[in-house]
Amino acid sequence: MSTYLQHLIGRRRAMSLGFGTMIGMGAFTFISQSKDAQSPIQEQALRRSFIVAGEASLRDRAARKGLLYGSAVLRSKLANDPEFAASITNECSILVPIGELKWDMLRTDLEHFNFEPADWLIEFTHKRNMLVRGHTLIWHEALPSWVESVMNSANAKQILTHHISTVVKRYAGKIHSWDVVNEAIQLRDGRSDGLRNTPWLLMLGPDYIEMAFRTAAKADPKAMLVYNDFGLDYDTPADNAKRAAVLKLLERLKLKGVPVHALGIQAHLLRDKNPRFNPEKFKTFLQNVASLGLKILITELDVTDKTLPKDIQIRDRMVAAAYEDYLSVALAEPAVIAVLTWGISDRYTWLSKHDPRQDGASVRPLPLDQNLKRKLVWNAIARSFDKAPRRSS
Ligand code: G3I
Repeated sequence: MSTYLQHLIGRRRAMSLGFGTMIGMGAFTFISQSKDAQSPIQEQALRRSFIVAGEASLRDRAARKGLLYGSAVLRSKLANDPEFAASITNECSILVPIGELKWDMLRTDLEHFNFEPADWLIEFTHKRNMLVRGHTLIWHEALPSWVESVMNSANAKQILTHHISTVVKRYAGKIHSWDVVNEAIQLRDGRSDGLRNTPWLLMLGPDYIEMAFRTAAKADPKAMLVYNDFGLDYDTPADNAKRAAVLKLLERLKLKGVPVHALGIQAHLLRDKNPRFNPEKFKTFLQNVASLGLKILITELDVTDKTLPKDIQIRDRMVAAAYEDYLSVALAEPAVIAVLTWGISDRYTWLSKHDPRQDGASVRPLPLDQNLKRKLVWNAIARSFDKAPRRSS
């Protein structure tokens, strides 16, 4: 742990925590500098209060600016946890199913679809005047085991187009936006186009992406069609290269007249230790995407706290600052139309299993704590919407 943080913790312990002002620092500012410099920016971050005006929900604050706020959800949690469902309804204007529209929950075998879980979820959102995203039509994960034994180069096109047509037609007019292709870029696979060696690429070649978008557009000409990916956030060699590759992919698709309407930026933040966030680089990336005529959605926002201090007062502030630093840049770009967190409460987060803390402490990545009480992350998101420029409708 850097001496700076030790110094902070020492000072905090020595003083009543009434204000918490000493540790309201921006995680990016802290992490990116990780030295004891008392730069004006760092001092400013230290004094961040996370004060929010009023009690309005995140959905209402977003709506005031022509934006959408929502969360990923599971039908099983909404159906069996009424207080959780109430929190979701209160805070969210748009939802995205975590699993109900993926192949492994939809497709029992080549001939059959199990639409019941997705139908229930879509009904839940519509009854509450909420929107719903579709996630995801083509991905290399969450494929049921029969795909590997059944799919081959001869039938892969038919399997892909049949799946997309069947699912998108069923929900035509009911889905705000579809993640048509998810996570197709993986530079480690060594291809000059940066594409990931997924079963779809291996069976159909690079044109599977165009095929997927064109099939979805034919099935629901009104749906917003999104390319969704992660690792686009930081000033690191990997993220810098991935942003460039994703931009090139989007340019190629637009040049061919492929009906892609938006980029989904997953924004799973602080996944690696000490990543450097460069607001100017991220802003330029967003501008370059928007210059293609694309909208942008922040689709899976959360912050991994596994490398942050155990002390909840410090950790919550650093996580909240990570959200606010990121969203202040993202929401300044008018093409950004929606922010969804990948869950809304620490009670249900994939990070508990996927990125647990070595000290065994519960992770605290989301706006509401395990008792559904608002945390500083909630304040950070609320402040970001309050400061965001209003979108013209
Ligand atoms: O619903 C079944 C349940 O009936 C069964 O008892 C249980 C047994 O383990 O499994 C449940 O399904 C699980 C599903 O999550 C719902 O909880 C699957 O096994 C599990 O593989 C699945 O993991 C999800 C993963 O995507 C794969 O679909 C994670 O929760 C989810 O957070 C993760 O989300 C992905 C996005 O879709 C794409 N971007 C990255 C993100 C994180 O990996």
